[in-house]
Amino acid sequence: MKIKSLKIKNFRNLKDISFFPSDEINVIYGENAQGKTNLIEAVWLFTGAKSFRGAKDSEIKMLGSQSAVLDLIFESNGVENDEKIIIENRRKAFINSKSLSSPGMLAGNFYAIVFSPSDLSLIKDGPKERRRFIDIAIGQLYPKYINYLKDYTRAVTQRNSILKQSLKENIDFNLLSAFEAEICDKGKKIIKYRLRYIELITPILTEIYSGLSGEKEKITINYLSSANEENFAQYLVNSRKSDALAGITSAGPHRDDVEFLINGLNARKFASQGQMRSVALCLKLSEAHVIKNITGEFPVALLDDVMSELDPSRQEYILNHIKGWQVLITCCEPDVVSRLKKGKAIKIKKGKIEE
Ligand SMILES: Nc1ncnc2c1ncn2[C@@H]1O[C@H](COP(=O)(O)OP(=O)(O)OP(=O)(O)O)[C@@H](O)[C@H]1O
Ligand SMILES: [Mg+2]
Repeated sequence: MKIKSLKIKNFRNLKDISFFPSDEINVIYGENAQGKTNLIEAVWLFTGAKSFRGAKDSEIKMLGSQSAVLDLIFESNGVENDEKIIIENRRKAFINSKSLSSPGMLAGNFYAIVFSPSDLSLIKDGPKERRRFIDIAIGQLYPKYINYLKDYTRAVTQRNSILKQSLKENIDFNLLSAFEAEICDKGKKIIKYRLRYIELITPILTEIYSGLSGEKEKITINYLSSANEENFAQYLVNSRKSDALAGITSAGPHRDDVEFLINGLNARKFASQGQMRSVALCLKLSEAHVIKNITGEFPVALLDDVMSELDPSRQEYILNHIKGWQVLITCCEPDVVSRLKKGKAIKIKKGKIEE
C-alpha cells in the first residue's frame, strides 16, 4: 500500500497542501502545533474509520470554512485508486469518483495503522479502549463486522430502554425477545471475529514484543469474555430484572476485555510507562502484519510522535522493523531525519510544507 499523493484543502490548520511522500520512510518534522498530526489524521480518515483523536467531523474542517476536501491517490497491488473525502456538516466519501453511501464504506480499500501517544490509554485505561482497538482493527479488514457491531449496539440500546421503561410501568417482557435474539446472534458473531483476530495477532505480537524488549520480556494476550456463549440467550432472560435495576445489559461483547500480561503480570496494573508504550506500539505493528497476511500488502504506517517515547535501541528496532513499508513518522527533532538512509524529510510550518 503506497500513497502517491495527498491533496488537502481546509482541513484543520492545513489550508492547501499537496503531499508526495516517498515509498519508504517519510519523516514529518517541525515545531509544536504546526500541523504534523493533522496531516497524519487526514491520511487516517481514508481507512473509513473516525478520527483517531476522537474528533467530530465539525471540528476537523478548518474553523470558519465551509468544507474540507481531501484527495488521496494510492497504489494497492499495482493498481492506482483515487479516494476523496468532503467534510461539510457530514463526511462524504468517493472511490474513483463513485459516491459511497457512507464514509465507513471506504473500509477495505486503503489500509493504514496508526500509533499516537494517546494509545497509551489502550493499556492503561478501561476495557472500552481495548474493545475500540480490536473493533477498528477487525472493521478495517471486514467491513461487514462494522454492521454487526451497529446492529448489536442498537439491540442492546433498545433492550436497555425497554428495561428502563419497565421500572416505571407494567411492560410485557415478551417485547424483549426480538432484541435479545438479535443481541445473541450478532453478539456471537462479534465474539467469533474477535477471538479469531486474537488468534491471528498472538504469534506476531509475541515475536515483535520480544524483539523490541531485547528478548527480556514475554507478552501474553487473552480475550476475557463476559458472556457464556452456550447460555447467553438464557442469561439475558434471567438477568432482565437485575439489568433493569442496574440500567445496563450486564454481559455480551460490549462488556468484554482484552488482557495483556508481561512476564505473567497484568500490564494494566503492573507495567511501567515504557512497557505500556511498547505494548501499544507492538500491537499496532502486529496489526500491520495481520493486514499484510490477509491482503498481501503492508498498510501505510502512521506513527505520531513515536520516537520521543523510545530509548535509542528501541528506536533502532522500530526503524529496522518497518523497512519496506511506507511510513509517515512525525517528530519535533530533525535528528531522526539524519539517521535515515533512505526516505524523505518533510518540514511542516504553520500548516504548510517546506521541503
Ligand atoms: N478545525 C481547526 N481549524 C483550524 N485550526 C485547527 C483546527 N483544529 C486544530 N487546529 C490547529 O492545528 C494546529 C496544529 O495541530 P497539530 O496537532 O497537527 O500540531 P503538531 O504539529 O502535531 O504539534 P505537536 O508537535 O505539538 O504534536 C493547532 O495549533 C490547532 O490549533
Ligand atoms: Mg502532533
